[in-house]
Amino acid sequence: MYKIAAIGGDGIGPEIVAEGKKVLDAAGEKFGFDIGWTDFGIGAERYLASGTLLTEDDFNELSKFRAIYFGAIGDERVKPGVLEKGILLALRFHFDLYVNLRPIRLLEGVETPLAGKGPKDIDFVVVRENTEDFYVGIGSRFKKRQKTTLNVERELYKIKFGLDIESDAEEIAYQIGVITREGARRVQTYAFDLARQRKKKLTSVDKANVLSDIYGLWREVFTENAKKYPDVTTEFTFVDAITMWFVKNPEWFDVVVTPNMFGDIITDLGAMIQGGLGLAPGANINPKGTSMFEPIHGSAPKYKGLNIANPIATIWAGSLLLDHLGEHKAAAAVVTAIEKSIRDGVVTKDMGGSAGTEKAGSYIAECVKKGK
Ligand code: IPM
Ligand code: MN
Repeated sequence: MYKIAAIGGDGIGPEIVAEGKKVLDAAGEKFGFDIGWTDFGIGAERYLASGTLLTEDDFNELSKFRAIYFGAIGDERVKPGVLEKGILLALRFHFDLYVNLRPIRLLEGVETPLAGKGPKDIDFVVVRENTEDFYVGIGSRFKKRQKTTLNVERELYKIKFGLDIESDAEEIAYQIGVITREGARRVQTYAFDLARQRKKKLTSVDKANVLSDIYGLWREVFTENAKKYPDVTTEFTFVDAITMWFVKNPEWFDVVVTPNMFGDIITDLGAMIQGGLGLAPGANINPKGTSMFEPIHGSAPKYKGLNIANPIATIWAGSLLLDHLGEHKAAAAVVTAIEKSIRDGVVTKDMGGSAGTEKAGSYIAECVKKGK
């Protein structure tokens, strides 16, 4: 039995995770495994009631699971950033989920806004670094003078910045981005290994022409890594250029590896070319530990409880979860079932259908069971 933790979270999160569980349970039935689910009441409600984001106890409990199935967090009653940083990013950092894997694939029957492009043209994977860069959370805002120490603590390393800043600007704000050699190396290695299993082509994203220290290191590590993979074709692109290429020539890409911040930006674009945020899954992976699977969209509070949210991104994230468990056949069957539901038109309003969240989810679960 696989023990999986579920965090529905806020807004539409609990509804879409419920559909995801249904589908994964159906896959278990069909392919001969059981999933033992444990729900965690982490999110805005608990935060508003008790001020708790995540406790040591949560981390200890969650660490007992192979995987966390995550819905979404974000609530209008909470200041922007509090839940995102205090829950989602805290989980990514605590469990050292250094790979954020985001497949950009246009499923059969889904419309893309890119004229003349079809499923054969849009099928690549973005490997986003998930623990460093401008996401480390070190920065500050102040007037005149500030003396401060800022820390980054990771499983891999500890960094302490001692900063003494004097300024005669009216007010100053700064944010520090951090890339480490080992941090870049491990995520790039993951991407190279993945490229080897696919079309053996890897594109690296940076902005080394301007942010030359931070992304210069990223590039240098990439060049070193590439020597160990002579069978993989490599290239560099600047982040601004890759947004153009995603639109113009998506068929060019197979595996794309990117620092955290640029990965965040380009995967929203990726989501659009694969048919919208309702269809974009993500996996936060620590190859040796607890990993977390989530749709890349947010909690969409205005759709909460209306039974209209599209559960596909979450169900597809569930397929990535199954892959992570080594249940590859079941994982593939889930994507096939999603495609069948699209072909049959049993989809939610955002995709032009009239099915509710529950019906769309149940239909995919049925298709998994029937093996179609
Ligand atoms: C994402 C989200 C998060 C991020 C936010 C909610 C912190 O946009 O998963 O892409 O910036 O990584
Ligand atoms: Mn994002």
